[in-house]
Amino acid sequence: MSPREELFPGLRSKYYFNYGGQGVMSESTLGAIIDAYRFVQSEGPFSTSMVGWIRDQLNDTRAKLANRFGGKAFLYALTQNVTEACNIALWGLNWKPGDEIMISDAEHQGVRDAVHNLAQRFELTVAEIALSKLDGKALEAEMAQKLNKDGRTRIFVFSHVLWNSGKVVDLPTIVEFCRNNNVFTLVDGAQSAGVLPLDVEASAVDFYAFTGHKWLCGPEGTGALYICEDLIDQIRPTYMGWRHHLQGAVKGAEKFEIATSSYPLLAGFREALTVPERLAGDSERYEKIIALAKQLKNRLEDNQFKVVPGAGQSGLLSFYVPDYAAEDNLDPGKITNLDNLVKTLEERKIYLRSIPEPRCLRVSLHYLSEQSDIDYLLSELQTLCKSQELTL
Ligand SMILES: Cc1ncc(COP(=O)(O)O)c(C=O)c1O
Repeated sequence: MSPREELFPGLRSKYYFNYGGQGVMSESTLGAIIDAYRFVQSEGPFSTSMVGWIRDQLNDTRAKLANRFGGKAFLYALTQNVTEACNIALWGLNWKPGDEIMISDAEHQGVRDAVHNLAQRFELTVAEIALSKLDGKALEAEMAQKLNKDGRTRIFVFSHVLWNSGKVVDLPTIVEFCRNNNVFTLVDGAQSAGVLPLDVEASAVDFYAFTGHKWLCGPEGTGALYICEDLIDQIRPTYMGWRHHLQGAVKGAEKFEIATSSYPLLAGFREALTVPERLAGDSERYEKIIALAKQLKNRLEDNQFKVVPGAGQSGLLSFYVPDYAAEDNLDPGKITNLDNLVKTLEERKIYLRSIPEPRCLRVSLHYLSEQSDIDYLLSELQTLCKSQELTL
């Protein structure tokens, strides 16, 4: 068994390219969760001693997030996922009819729905920014043009890494523009946290939303929202609950944590946040991801696969399967469309996904990925795309 297979049971006997959907948990992360659940059964589950233990779980997790991603611990609210984190920020503003939300043209469906729902509830307008295509001066011009003329634009919602192309957006330009125009920034970090070196405080964003179960390889049901210190008292909770009393006078982002949640998962989340540090530094891990992504991009292009622009900047890479390959010339009788191709690859132990827009395949390359994963992926594509002369 290879060292990474020993550490990550989910990587045994498969070629995994779905970190952008969900990461694999390490043996030690699984162990931390199981140990925490056992501890709860032994000391409680409902007992006076558990109250202090729960408080420690919450505070230790916030401290670990601050240690890994910057800012102060009390600025992190613990959530179940990135969508909840975005909703907390969006609903926490004091909206007035006629206010505007800017959103990028490449946001995940769930976050888009959250924005449009809010717009409907509070009679807001929504302006779309062509972030998938623009950077630098062109992006600034687009934002300036879409800004509400009466100064009513309140927030710009966008991803740090675009989920469908892997493009890393021009964060400094966006943040500077928004700060100069009194527009808050809400960053969806679903595809960036755990990929890029990240210091949320230094980036000067207002909100940064995380999810634990993707690139961070934590358990599903974990996530966080960072809120910049200047804003922490202005943003109000939409839901209230008894946790406010458990935690005493609620200060900081914990005001968004309301009631019972899976505290033992936090032990797993913390362990997952610690594992990468034991393997390599932040920049080293990112460099490995980029090197693998660039290599795969080049080798796909050498073999007439069209790669979606953005590939090679992050862990995500999307590519089109030529029409003739997608429909007619793949194993006759077996593969009739892209989703069947995904299924067929899965039967061959390759886990990747199709995406709807653009209609293509998406591969995630993690610091846990290896050259051998890419070699095997390309060789299986070669076998399946029989009509192509692939020289891999
Ligand atoms: C950019 C982006 N935002 C949000 C989500 C939803 O993530 P979660 O289930 O953690 O809310 C995803 C998941 O794929 C995503 O890629």
